[in-house]
Amino acid sequence: MNRATSVFVSEPGDRSVLQVRDHDLPDPAEGEVQVAVAAAGVNFIDVYKRQGVYPVSTPFVLGEEGAGTVTAVGPGVSEVSVGDRVAWCQSTGSESTVVNKPARLVVPVPDGVDLEVAAAAMLQGLTAHYLVTSTYAVRPGDVALVHAAAGGVGQLLVQMVTARGGAVVATAGSDEKLEIARALGAEHLINYSTVDDLAAAVREAAGRGVDVAYDGVGRSTFDASLASLRPRGMMVLFGGASGQVPPFDIQRLNSGGSLFLTRPTLGNYVAERAEYEWRAGEVLGAVADGSLRIDIGGRYPLSEAAAAYEALEGRRTTGKLILVPNA
Ligand SMILES: NC(=O)c1ccc[n+]([C@@H]2O[C@H](COP(=O)([O-])OP(=O)(O)OC[C@H]3O[C@@H](n4cnc5c(N)ncnc54)[C@H](OP(=O)(O)O)[C@@H]3O)[C@@H](O)[C@H]2O)c1
Repeated sequence: MNRATSVFVSEPGDRSVLQVRDHDLPDPAEGEVQVAVAAAGVNFIDVYKRQGVYPVSTPFVLGEEGAGTVTAVGPGVSEVSVGDRVAWCQSTGSESTVVNKPARLVVPVPDGVDLEVAAAAMLQGLTAHYLVTSTYAVRPGDVALVHAAAGGVGQLLVQMVTARGGAVVATAGSDEKLEIARALGAEHLINYSTVDDLAAAVREAAGRGVDVAYDGVGRSTFDASLASLRPRGMMVLFGGASGQVPPFDIQRLNSGGSLFLTRPTLGNYVAERAEYEWRAGEVLGAVADGSLRIDIGGRYPLSEAAAAYEALEGRRTTGKLILVPNA
C-alpha cells in the first residue's frame, strides 16, 4: 500500500467542490502500472465532469491525462518496465502524485521530450490529430475555421491544418490571442468579440465558404459556424466551452447547402490500441522533432487546482495548463 495526494471532486458543482487530500493507493493490480506523476493536464472535459454535464459517480479524482515515471508494474505487464517514461490520456483520475493506470493506456515518451510537455500534448494533441486526419481529413487548399485558436486544442489545430497544406481562419476573444494564432500559421484572423456578423466576417476573410468548421466553443459560435460553410462543408462540433448547443432544426443542413454535422469525441478515435499508438506516436514524434509546438500557458501545484480551472473557465488562458504535483 502507498500514499498519494489527489484532486478530488466531492460532488457535482462549481470549483468549491474540489478537495486536495491524501489517501491510500493500492499496489498496481493485474495489467496496471504505477506511475509517479510529473504533470497532469488541465482540460475542459474536467469542467464538464466536475459540473455533472458528463456524469461521474462521486467522489472521484479529476484529470484525464498525465505523464511520469513508472515506479512499479502489476502482474501480467511485460511491455512496460520500472523507470520507463510514459504518458497517457483517456483515463480519469490523473491529478495526483501517484497513479495506477492500465498498461494498455500508457505510451512511451520519446527521448528529448520533457514529461511536462508530454502531459500537455496528449489529450489536446490526439484530439487535434483525429480532427484533421479522420473527422475531416484536411487536404492542401482547404480552408478551415478554427475557433478559440489560441487555446489548447486551437493552437494545435492551427499547426496541424497548416502542416497539411490547409489555410486557417482563426477566431479568438482578443487581439493578443489572435497574434498567437498568426504566429502559428493562421492566415486570416477574426476577433469574434468585436464583429456583429461572424459568418459574414469568415466568408469575407476566406473569400468563400469554408470547407470545415472546427468548433469547440459551442453555444455562442455554432450558428455562425454552420453559416460559414461552403455547400457540402463539414461542421465539426467538438465541445462547448461557452455552453452546450441546444437541439436544432435538422432542415438547416439542407438549406445551408447539404451540410454535414458531426459531434465527435476522442474515445471513439483511440478505442483500438493500434490507433491510439499511431496518434500518440505522431503527436509526440512531432513534438520531439520540433514540428509541433506545445505552449504551456501555466503550471500549478495540485493545491491550486481550483485556480487553474478558474483561469480556464474565465477565458484567461492561452495554450495548455498543467498541474505539477511536485512544484
Ligand atoms: N470532443 C473531443 O474529443 C474533445 C477533446 C478535447 C477537447 N475538447 C473540447 O475542445 C474545447 C477546447 O478545449 P481546451 O481544453 O483546449 O480549452 P481552451 O480552448 O484552451 O479554452 C477554452 C477557450 O474557449 C473560448 N471561449 C469562448 N467562449 C467561452 C466561454 N463562455 N467560457 C470559456 N471559454 C470560452 C476562450 O477563448 P477565447 O477567449 O479566444 O474565446 C477559451 O480560452 C472544449 O470545448 C473542449 O471540451 C473536445
